[in-house]
Amino acid sequence: MVATLPTPDVRPADPRFSSGPCAKRPGWTPEALDTSALGRSHRSKLGKAKLADAIALTREILGVPDDYRIGIVPASDTGAVEMAMWSMLGARGVDMVAWESFGSGWVTDVVKQLKLDDVRKIEAGYGELPDLATIDFSRDVVFTWNGTTSGVRVPNGDFIPADREGLTICDATSAAFAQALDFAKLDVVTFSWQKVLGGEGGHGVLILSPRAVERLETYTPAWPLPKIFRMTKGGKLIEGIFKGETINTPSMLCVEDYLDALNWAKSLGGLEALKARADANFKAIQDHVDAGSWLENLAVDPATRSNTSVCLKIVDPAVTALSADDQAAFAKAIVSALDKEGVAFDIGAYRDAPSGLRIWAGATVETADLEALMPWLDWAFEAQKATLKAAA
Ligand SMILES: Cc1ncc(COP(=O)(O)O)c(C=O)c1O
Repeated sequence: MVATLPTPDVRPADPRFSSGPCAKRPGWTPEALDTSALGRSHRSKLGKAKLADAIALTREILGVPDDYRIGIVPASDTGAVEMAMWSMLGARGVDMVAWESFGSGWVTDVVKQLKLDDVRKIEAGYGELPDLATIDFSRDVVFTWNGTTSGVRVPNGDFIPADREGLTICDATSAAFAQALDFAKLDVVTFSWQKVLGGEGGHGVLILSPRAVERLETYTPAWPLPKIFRMTKGGKLIEGIFKGETINTPSMLCVEDYLDALNWAKSLGGLEALKARADANFKAIQDHVDAGSWLENLAVDPATRSNTSVCLKIVDPAVTALSADDQAAFAKAIVSALDKEGVAFDIGAYRDAPSGLRIWAGATVETADLEALMPWLDWAFEAQKATLKAAA
């Protein structure tokens, strides 16, 4: 790459802008973690209290209704979504709603693995939302609140009727703790710890409405369920799972780290403060994109633009004139130049998404770091464009 512009004066203090695992909260150090439960049974009084505390703080910060259950489950967000789909689907037809890679993965699962026969796919390409008005809520519905790989989210839960007959199963992993989840409209909500709160990977959270519990207690799928998916015994919900008696062994170090993140979130002022941080971060990026001419938000409709996984495409005519492969190489060169400078790590578009940049704007990222990053994007773009011209 030929450097044509002087490098910007200010560097982000923290160059971590990955969309998962996401940056740790400001000021995090391993020493901040209480280690008293490490090396102890997770079923000891202390271990169980830690897990129960994580559940209680999750409820408090997210505003989860009192009659919803919250469980800590294996295998991260994927584990939580799979548990819900394999335990609940098949009782009625299902509408699978997808507009990016993760949502599409759930569609594949239901069609090719569960092999349900009454499945409707309601889909859109990267950058768009499908027509949500075509969803039939007398059926079960599976969707992703915030599409992490396209940066397109649903603006709110207004498209879901309060009096639906089917269940709504919502993968909310890059939305929870940054966007207002409308729990009254959601029967199953899932997320992992390593996204908006910058926790450690491996554990999922599964939130169930009373109607989801009713489904579990009244419907038995035709297929076998492995132990790590089973939430009922003798037709009754295993309530312990939702009190911290996890199905299998969690990492108490990860639990401790999640507690640290939750307590940080609480100290800021809870969900409203987290949302405000993500919104300010998104604005720092979008203002810069709008002020220039070489980038655009991949999300076409401003109302659907994510305030966590912000996906940007390169629209400079010199770049869009290139083949798709060369456009991808151009974007990758920008990403690696910024990585090499140590100003931004892991900001390439997701492997299955259109080429471009994806910058995490969740609450653990400092707005000042994003503001500092923006001139660097221009610097790397100009340098790469100069390389392109030199080669022409
Ligand atoms: C929307 C969405 N769903 C599912 C996943 C998979 O999450 P995990 O790796 O926690 O299982 C991700 C990961 O980025 C995601 O963004």
